[in-house]
Amino acid sequence: MPTPPDAPDDAITPGSRIYETDDSVAQYLEFHYGAELFGVANFPLACIAAAVEHRDGRPWKRGLDVGCAVGRSSFEMARHADHVDAFDFSAAFVAACERLQAEGELNYLIPTEGLLREPRCASLKANGLEETAGRVQFGVGDACRLAAELTDYDVVFAGNLIDRLYEPAAFLREIVSRVVPGGLLVITSPYTWLEDYTPVDRWLGGRPDGGKTLDGMRQVLADSCDLVGCEDIPFVIRETARKHQHTVAEASFWRKH
Ligand SMILES: C[S@@+](CC[C@H](N)C(=O)[O-])C[C@H]1O[C@@H](n2cnc3c(N)ncnc32)[C@H](O)[C@@H]1O
Repeated sequence: MPTPPDAPDDAITPGSRIYETDDSVAQYLEFHYGAELFGVANFPLACIAAAVEHRDGRPWKRGLDVGCAVGRSSFEMARHADHVDAFDFSAAFVAACERLQAEGELNYLIPTEGLLREPRCASLKANGLEETAGRVQFGVGDACRLAAELTDYDVVFAGNLIDRLYEPAAFLREIVSRVVPGGLLVITSPYTWLEDYTPVDRWLGGRPDGGKTLDGMRQVLADSCDLVGCEDIPFVIRETARKHQHTVAEASFWRKH
């Protein structure tokens, strides 16, 4: 397996190329803005609702969505925060966020079977998001090389990102320094560690010689945060009309000292 680079390039890891494809953009638009499947609640919406439950009465002036994909969690966070920064390493995902923000809707094609596709439309208005969407500032960025100006956040959401990073422990140490005291860091992940994204010696859990990822994260964050909550949040990603991924992410809520 090629070792991920120490400095970012246009593919960052072998696995991350997938997130630049039209099919990935369509799949994530459907995941974030499409109809509920099999009775499983919309994932970005459920994650931000769970984060709000841990807000502890604290106003959110500034929020950050790291690895925002096509932006639903960023827009949901903006209902509750004065300003949200949101970034992703995929330029294709960020372009979709920006078009959705500028035009209010975005057309895309989802695969049904074989080469057949069906048209769909992601809409901010249909989801009651158009009033607050202007509070989000999107950009392309690398979570493992955080820009200096990304700081002073009351809430940071990293949804299903940690097991896609080439330096997950370094990310955790750095991101928590960008949270204000009393602020909240929310991590969700199914902990599907893969060498295409993360060299095995950098996995935070799931190695035969180690423990679970939650314990690995607890070790990294022990000096800076308290773990104030943990819950399962399931999600369904549609692959075709008849094939879906049903996954259960663990959401952990960390309050900065
Ligand atoms: C599994 S997806 C999850 C997306 C979204 N948060 C969600 O929950 O639907 C992982 C996301 O992380 C992004 N990503 C991977 N490595 C990254 C990095 N180093 N910096 C920023 N984003 C990254 C990918 O482009 C992709 O959008």
